[in-house]
Amino acid sequence: MDQPIDYSQRIPNNVDLANDRALQRALERWQPAFLNWWDETGPAHTSDLQVYLRTAISVDRDGWANFAYVRMPDYRWGIFLAPRDENRAIHFGDHKGQPAWQEVPGEYRSPLRRIIVTQGDTEPASVEQQRLLGATCPSLYDLRNLFQVNVEEGRHLWAMVYLLHRYFGRDGREEAEALLQRRSGDANNPRILTAFNEKTSHWLAFFMFTFFTDRDGKFQLAALAESAFDPLARTTKFMLTEEAHHMFVGESGVARILQRTCEVMREHNLNDPAQVRARGVIDLETLQRFVNFHYSVTLDLFGSEISSNAASYFTGGLKGRYSEGNVNDDHALTSDSYIVQEIERGRILSREAPALTALNARLRDDYAREIQSGLDRWNRIPEKFGIPFRMTLPHEGFHRKIGSFADHHISPEGQVLSSAEWERQAIAWLPSDDDHAFIHSLMGRVLEPGKFANWIAPPARGINNLPLEFEYVRF
Ligand SMILES: [Fe+2]
Ligand SMILES: [Fe+2]
Repeated sequence: MDQPIDYSQRIPNNVDLANDRALQRALERWQPAFLNWWDETGPAHTSDLQVYLRTAISVDRDGWANFAYVRMPDYRWGIFLAPRDENRAIHFGDHKGQPAWQEVPGEYRSPLRRIIVTQGDTEPASVEQQRLLGATCPSLYDLRNLFQVNVEEGRHLWAMVYLLHRYFGRDGREEAEALLQRRSGDANNPRILTAFNEKTSHWLAFFMFTFFTDRDGKFQLAALAESAFDPLARTTKFMLTEEAHHMFVGESGVARILQRTCEVMREHNLNDPAQVRARGVIDLETLQRFVNFHYSVTLDLFGSEISSNAASYFTGGLKGRYSEGNVNDDHALTSDSYIVQEIERGRILSREAPALTALNARLRDDYAREIQSGLDRWNRIPEKFGIPFRMTLPHEGFHRKIGSFADHHISPEGQVLSSAEWERQAIAWLPSDDDHAFIHSLMGRVLEPGKFANWIAPPARGINNLPLEFEYVRF
């Protein structure tokens, strides 16, 4: 059942591309455009580097994590789908019980294309956002992890482009072109979603992004892995195996920063953030402001809490809930309700909404629970050092641009504020220019194997069980 990945082809794949000449030719025309895009907007100054990367050689358990030195421009991006289950049936919505679709039904063509394009657009966007980080890497280990994330986001773009070319005809080919033309942060042709137009200009932002925003990716992909459109489900399932490492990079990156800060605070008996900074590590208050920022912009990625699109994606079978198969209900949701928070006459109230229209809120709540567990793990670090500081998540309405709380000002504790109060206090809640300038002042470039920048602790272990002194990147 499981197709090995054929690397003798110009485009490595396990979808038998060689037997679909028109598709193969179309993708071979897209490939040089992709490589140009990578060259222009992918990680800067990497064409001479050899990086110890993981490359999938098959999608089964032993094959997908195959490690070797790769020259960055020689990385083999390809098309890998999880194996097909011939008996797979649709398990939610109006078509529940019918066989999963192997082609796109006409009535769902346009929403499915929109879903795939929106997901696809985030992949190259994050590569663009992270383009310059290599110049300030805190270690070779971290540099290698950055490049691993970058090449895999590039592959996720391939995953979505394959679906567009294979199943959406000329419209799909045009969308695939456009995915290489939009640019993160570009005023005239930006990426589709706001969080993917923000800057990721230093490593603290990178670790926060991979913890918070790649995890949004995980939840979106997990919901698409339930899709009645089987090729989309199989594609996203394999993407999820790669996504886990991106979130690990973020969670362990922030944990190592916390570890280092707490060490220095204990060693010199410091509490004042200015004194902590004077020792060249990142104070806990600044970390909290970055948590507030990255969490709130990522919540916006889930869309409006109440959404008729979300309802029709579900009833149509296009996008399920997180872990749909494990939810114990009728998987139709026609008479269920779900609690959402809204503002009414200046106060935040809970109300019951029809579960179908509240699916974005539900997916976001599932996400928030997992994020909270991550914060709980982070908080064990100051606890271990006897430092009373704990990181917290701001209220879901804090600093929101989309959904019920857009156009309102909510404090991290969940109080509704006037614009004037917000203006006065927001400086304490969100990273300021001064915070960014301080973080930038710490960023150097550490290239000696086994050495780490002062502001971050070494990881517990190396990649693929190799020692920390391993030369993860060769120049
Ligand atoms: Fe991705
Ligand atoms: Fe990712």
